[in-house]
Amino acid sequence: MKNVLIVGGAGYVGGAITDLILESNYNVRVYDALIYEDSFRKPVDFVYGDVRDHEKLSRQLDWADAVVWLAAIVGDGACQLNPELTREVNQDSVCWLADNYNGRIVFMSTCSVYGAQDKELDENSPTNPLSLYAETKLEAEKCLKHKNAIIFRLGTLFGVGDLYSRIRLDLVVNILTVKAYTEGVIKVFGGDQFRPLLHVKDVARAVVMNLETEHKGVYNLQRQNVRIMDLAYQVRNHFPDIEIIHTDMPFQDTRNYRVSSSKARDTFSYDSIHSIDEGIGELKYLVETQRIKDLSSIRYSNVAYLKEHTEELIEKKFKKAEVA
Ligand SMILES: NC(=O)c1ccc[n+]([C@@H]2O[C@H](COP(=O)([O-])OP(=O)(O)OC[C@H]3O[C@@H](n4cnc5c(N)ncnc54)[C@H](O)[C@@H]3O)[C@@H](O)[C@H]2O)c1
Repeated sequence: MKNVLIVGGAGYVGGAITDLILESNYNVRVYDALIYEDSFRKPVDFVYGDVRDHEKLSRQLDWADAVVWLAAIVGDGACQLNPELTREVNQDSVCWLADNYNGRIVFMSTCSVYGAQDKELDENSPTNPLSLYAETKLEAEKCLKHKNAIIFRLGTLFGVGDLYSRIRLDLVVNILTVKAYTEGVIKVFGGDQFRPLLHVKDVARAVVMNLETEHKGVYNLQRQNVRIMDLAYQVRNHFPDIEIIHTDMPFQDTRNYRVSSSKARDTFSYDSIHSIDEGIGELKYLVETQRIKDLSSIRYSNVAYLKEHTEELIEKKFKKAEVA
């Protein structure tokens, strides 16, 4: 196996994955519609295109021995903005891939397919998607069921993945670190809810480990299940002067869950190596050294950015791809 196509590789997770695959001596090509970016500057083969442009994507699939599929509208709020677009991108395009590609597939799903549940969840636990995001990811998983595909249900990611790609500041560890720096205050709603967390670079390690294995089906990936309140205190260790304000939460958080990654550990000896403190430290360094000019820019939040750009995305879906 030589050629790896990373679909949606210009995003937050894509940056880390691209670098690690390159280090492992594969030929790498990124296919992406650059929804959040004005340019792609990583020195890697790049094809500008939309996953809904099947003709264009087909030509790239012919080249690829393996496809790492990251392209999606990501996050509950972002997916709600235009349900039709979300289904097209997150679900239909993956089902089309399943019908039109027979190489190795590495697909990113999410632990939010489990919904809010009390006990620790493994891959045999019932799913309970409580958002359109989770629902479309679960439907995409079903389409890949009989393919040579490994599916990672990721926890909430954190940290800095690489030097070139976008940072997301709409993910809980990253948000709390930025708030600690900008406001000196972290507001915690509820706080007893759990999230499974994982460093973005640890996703890349799982992907590279499995480009050529025969492992198929679903694997949870997380480093640690953390209570949001405990996470707030962990962030405070890095910013000792900040205040934590606790507010009782009047509604049930639909993303309260703990997951186990023991299947990944038992099957391919997977273990995360990047800690939450490391991720907080990376974000702290970025903000303290003022490497992000405008921390409140909508570019760093999927829902905020798409609120302003969804219509454009729908209208231009093929036009933009043709021009490239
Ligand atoms: N970041 C997390 O915490 C997290 C957690 C669980 C799962 N995931 C999954 O990991 C994957 C990557 O997430 P991310 O955090 O990098 O998100 P992201 O929004 O940073 O990246 C998504 C990338 O896909 C591209 N894209 C979106 N729609 C496209 C289209 N129609 N055609 C071509 N390209 C398109 C975007 O331009 C962007 O570069 C997603 O599938 C997501 O569901 C992420």
